[in-house]
Amino acid sequence: MNTIFYQALIHAFKDSNGDGVGDIPGLISKLDYLQWLGVDCVWVPPFYASPMRDDGYDIADYYAINPAYGTMEDVEQLIAELHSRGMKIMTDLALNHTSVDHPWFQASRQDPQGPYGDFYVWGDDPQRYPEIRVIFTDTEDSNWAFDETRGQYYFHRFYSHQPDLNYDNPAVQEEILSVVRFWLSKGVDVLRLDAVPYLFERDGQGGESLPETFAFIRRIRALVDAEFPGAKLLAEANQPADKTTKYFDAGMHMCFNFPLMPKLYEALATSSATPVYEVMDELGDIPVGAWANFLRNHDELTLEMVTPAERQLMYETYLPDQQSKAHTGIARRLMPLMGGDRRKVELLFALLLALPGQPFIYYGDEIGMEDLPELPDRYAVRTPMLWEDGPGHGFSDAPSPHLPFASGHSVAAQQEDPTSLLNTVRGLITQRRQHPDLATASYEAVEAGVDEVLAFQRGGLLCLFNFSEETIDLGPVELGPFGYAWVPVES
Ligand code: BGC
Ligand code: MG
Repeated sequence: MNTIFYQALIHAFKDSNGDGVGDIPGLISKLDYLQWLGVDCVWVPPFYASPMRDDGYDIADYYAINPAYGTMEDVEQLIAELHSRGMKIMTDLALNHTSVDHPWFQASRQDPQGPYGDFYVWGDDPQRYPEIRVIFTDTEDSNWAFDETRGQYYFHRFYSHQPDLNYDNPAVQEEILSVVRFWLSKGVDVLRLDAVPYLFERDGQGGESLPETFAFIRRIRALVDAEFPGAKLLAEANQPADKTTKYFDAGMHMCFNFPLMPKLYEALATSSATPVYEVMDELGDIPVGAWANFLRNHDELTLEMVTPAERQLMYETYLPDQQSKAHTGIARRLMPLMGGDRRKVELLFALLLALPGQPFIYYGDEIGMEDLPELPDRYAVRTPMLWEDGPGHGFSDAPSPHLPFASGHSVAAQQEDPTSLLNTVRGLITQRRQHPDLATASYEAVEAGVDEVLAFQRGGLLCLFNFSEETIDLGPVELGPFGYAWVPVES
């Protein structure tokens, strides 16, 4: 499998009806662009009915489309248009929690004895599960919230408006399997299992990656194997390396490479390849292609799993002011993180496309779009795409779109300029396709002899990356400041 993934937020990609909000017909109108770029699979985050207090990850109905985005027919057309181009679609299975607006939750709080009474994690003791950490530290100081109607507390791993589903209830498991079946029957190719480590809670434990959770994941995999053998499952499990790899054992086809991601930034911060060599060692022997590698996404650059010293270093290097902090991480886009230094951005793209695994590109990063730190939550990195220059940026005809524009050079301007970042990224994607070893060959670390340089071999290709500002002469190859090279070698 050699799949270039591209994450497009529907509300920020292209508005087709002039209401200021991006929509599904807008996304369809930009598939030619994604095909031109070399994308194979488009990831669209949740597009369901939602009060949108967590950008759609707060789902009020798994089977209804957010009316601002379009209709079920629009979704069907999106899938058909992608498939007719030989492209795929990935979307989220947000299975840990729902919105408080979901009818299951409304029924659960109003009728504790009714069929939905046990759909969520209710209790009388808000101190229960003290080992379970709070994830959204900016807004929450407890994982329990009191519901006046039912007179009990409900457990929530994220926002207090997102109650956790109770996976100890077999009916909950069946409902979620029905959601899986529904969307895979519609033609969805890949499901991202959102926040998947947190499905179960157990006394005396931290509640992450429990055996019960792996057992339920295996049920999803069994369903896929039996009914949708071509479909793939991808885990969003922000866990330490040894825990992350357990998701492969539980039947995930792919896992986001959370252990690697911060190490790429650490390598640049320290001008040293050591953090990357070390984490690649820790990750061990995973089938080539099973890692979902990424530089950025719609969330903050998470620093939950790094050591306190590493976190401190990352703040010192990448957090100019507290505005950009989101929870324990940093809500910034790739170009501003790199201080506007295009050499570093290109280095990271070249590395993303050379590492073993599937590369994920976050919309807007291919044009080096900036962010808007003054926006709340993680909206700094979710602003509308810049298609053209001039008012509305080709995103929308509305006088003011739902989110303000960040600055940057538009797609149109960069397409015309052969030296633009956009054309460079596209060129790298083309080169990756010309070297099938980058998709299939195993990763062999190579000792570069210089701490600043990361070297590894993928079949007949030696890949070199210079994390420093210095020019480094490796004999046959010279790497400029933040330079990289993919060099064919005799095998
Ligand atoms: C998503 C976030 C979301 C969180 C809670 C995460 O895994 O990526 O964007 O806020 O789930 O819903
Ligand atoms: Mg619209």
